[in-house]
Amino acid sequence: MSLQIDFTGKNVVVIGGTSGINLGIAETFAEHGARVAVASRSAAKVEAAVAQLQQYGGEVFGGTADVRDLEALQALFKQFQQQLGEIDVLVSGAAGNFPAAAMQMSANGFKSVMDIDLLGTFQVMQTAYPYLRRPDASVINISAPQAFIPMPLQVHVCAAKAGVDMVTRVLAMEWGASGVRINSIVPGPIAGTEGMKRLAPSAALQAKVSESVPLKRQGTPQDIAHTALFLASPLASYITGAVIPVDGGWSTGGVSTMMHELADVLNPQ
Ligand code: NAP
Ligand code: COA
Repeated sequence: MSLQIDFTGKNVVVIGGTSGINLGIAETFAEHGARVAVASRSAAKVEAAVAQLQQYGGEVFGGTADVRDLEALQALFKQFQQQLGEIDVLVSGAAGNFPAAAMQMSANGFKSVMDIDLLGTFQVMQTAYPYLRRPDASVINISAPQAFIPMPLQVHVCAAKAGVDMVTRVLAMEWGASGVRINSIVPGPIAGTEGMKRLAPSAALQAKVSESVPLKRQGTPQDIAHTALFLASPLASYITGAVIPVDGGWSTGGVSTMMHELADVLNPQ
């Protein structure tokens, strides 16, 4: 098999694809020839992302929906079907995060992250399924190290992302026979993103995070996008139900201790 990765003629949808890591993923697919559609809540962010993606020269579409709103998602996927046709690659990465100790988090604070990350992922999967190319579609959920590493100030995200990886595994079993593969990518700390600004809101904390990574740097959206390209390509045709850390070795150790240090700064007792 040729190692050339070419997505010309392929349709890629990225939910939550208007900033940060997910926009980086959309850009990399556009750069490799794909027709790309991105969606999130803010019409202004969608418009800006579409303009950025158009620089790669291919067809680009955008739409708005909150992943917590099932009817809005149904309308969004209908729109994308009319614009793109069947979906070859679906990336689901909408998420919310804020650092807060359990005793300072309201039930609604916990629920809002559960609803965006976990219920949202489920609703995106369920709504998209009829529009996926079967066989051969590839679905990628964007998880987080919190899915399997307990971190202080992150009880909502830990619970939600653990659930996201279970959605990945269960749907890999249910959808395997129809030829749809579904995998999770677990990004480590990715420099300059909204997520890292929230979890390490100072230069000193950012430096501590970088130092705690075995490869001694934070990742880039491209590091994650290249894994997405691989997972969506025929090179990965026997990979489904996998949860793949792309984190410079962060999850091998150090990350939880690191988060305790951050917790002391962000939430002094
Ligand atoms: P980001 O820039 O804030 O990206 C989040 C995206 O999701 C935005 O496009 C946002 O746009 C959209 N979104 C948020 N809530 C939504 C909702 N209810 N419905 C629809 N869209 C919604 O964050 P990021 O830091 O790049 O993180 C991207 C993904 O990577 C997330 O899944 C995150 O958990 C994961 N991750 C990040 C890191 C990191 O270091 N940053 C590490 C591990 C995992 P709107 O505001 O317009 O809705
Ligand atoms: N500490 C404690 N609670 C917080 C909080 C914080 N820093 N930020 C929000 N909350 C609580 C709110 O107080 C509210 O609870 P309440 O009704 O009991 O007061 C609840 O969370 C929902 O907040 P709201 O602002 O109404 O939610 P939203 O749906 O508009 O936004 C968030 C969802 C809170 C997750 C928001 O931060 C967001 O939209 N994030 C997307 C971007 C992002 O997080 N990117 C990083 C991805 S890793």
